[in-house]
Amino acid sequence: MRDVRVSADAEALSRAAAREFIDLARQAIAARRRFMVALAGGATPRRIYELLAAPEHRHQVDWTRVEFFWGDERAVPPDHPDSNYGMAAAALLATLDLRPEQIHRIQAERPDRERAARDYQIEIARAFGVSPEGPPPVFDLILLGLGTDGHTASLFPYTDALRERRRHVVSHYVAKLQAERITLTFPIINRASEIRVVVAGAEKAPTLKEVLEGPPDPERLPSQLLDPPAGRLAWLVDRAAAGELALEHCR
Ligand code: 6PG
Repeated sequence: MRDVRVSADAEALSRAAAREFIDLARQAIAARRRFMVALAGGATPRRIYELLAAPEHRHQVDWTRVEFFWGDERAVPPDHPDSNYGMAAAALLATLDLRPEQIHRIQAERPDRERAARDYQIEIARAFGVSPEGPPPVFDLILLGLGTDGHTASLFPYTDALRERRRHVVSHYVAKLQAERITLTFPIINRASEIRVVVAGAEKAPTLKEVLEGPPDPERLPSQLLDPPAGRLAWLVDRAAAGELALEHCR
């Protein structure tokens, strides 16, 4: 049974997602004194990050215990309008007075992106205190979005990155975007304790229905590969995005 949590509209969805972020952060910090979270890029999560930074929420998390990572990044500098880091920094991080070592940015602007991807895998391992050659570390939370083509992070349809089983981070050229991306791979994403995919808007409804209710077709719909064997995957959606789903999915 899929765990699909429907909110009335995009604002209610963002509030519900911010609430889950806070609850998961507090649980992780209480249990392990830290919260290791990979943020999603794109447009949808911006409002979630703004809500986390808002006075009504920001004091509910001990931000000194949070370490921020990203699920993927575009091949642009951190101050570029397309930067996933830049979006989160403006909406949330800049308001939190964090120590530099709490922020693990993907340096996707580097000309040698293969090296940058490898270095990010090493940085993740170092932050978790494990070997970069070992099994992927376990994020407390990985936030993801869903593209209308079924991609998540920068794991796009019909790309070799979907079949990566060894590396935790890869750089690849995405032909449909005519752009390079650096992305976490499914081995590390599916190791997470908690995965939340945030999906808003009617334009996502046909894709969400195919991903959740259609026949398995992961090359065409990579988000179907989200399947954490030991973690929990929940889809946080608004009513517009859920518009084509059979009701039994919706909690
Ligand atoms: C990115 C994201 C990507 C995003 C989806 C949905 O870098 O763009 O990682 O996977 O989550 O494309 O994007 P929207 O939230 O803008 O619809």
